[in-house]
Amino acid sequence: MSNVRGVVIAVLVVGLGLIALRADAIAGSEGAQVYGELCAVCHGATGNADGPGSAVLKPTPRKFSSAAIMSPISDQQIFDMIKKGGLGVGKSPMMQSFDYLGDAKIKALVAHIRDFCQCQYEPATGP
Ligand code: HEC
Repeated sequence: MSNVRGVVIAVLVVGLGLIALRADAIAGSEGAQVYGELCAVCHGATGNADGPGSAVLKPTPRKFSSAAIMSPISDQQIFDMIKKGGLGVGKSPMMQSFDYLGDAKIKALVAHIRDFCQCQYEPATGP
């Protein structure tokens, strides 16, 4: 009897794991898709700040592909920038608010931007 219960639990655990994995994959590709449609024109397809629109932008968008540039910026800051836009956080109005995408898509975008730099948030240390 306890064996049956063990099997049932094992099946449940594996099943939940698979669902979580799929949700992750969907979030990742959704971020990539939205980025390609809405952001690449300025930020560049690979986050190099070399999209067709970037030449005329002042300030030029940051290089999302650079870990040195992106690791001091927290996920929350990236999220706020996308949600509120440049005006909302005291930066360039050229970066519009993408609030209408909703928080889930904005989170997927943050994850996608982290993929470009292959970095995590590392607060600056020391004086
Ligand atoms: C019209 C051009 C344009 C488009 C389209 C655009 N951005 Fe930006 N973005 C900018 C500019 C310019 C800045 C720099 C603002 C500043 O530093 O004052 C910026 C800054 C940012 C930053 C802040 C990085 C930092 O300096 O802290 C993030 C994150 C960002 N954009 C994400 C996105 C995402 C995600 C999209 C698509 C949903 C997007 N942007 C679409 C022009 C654009």
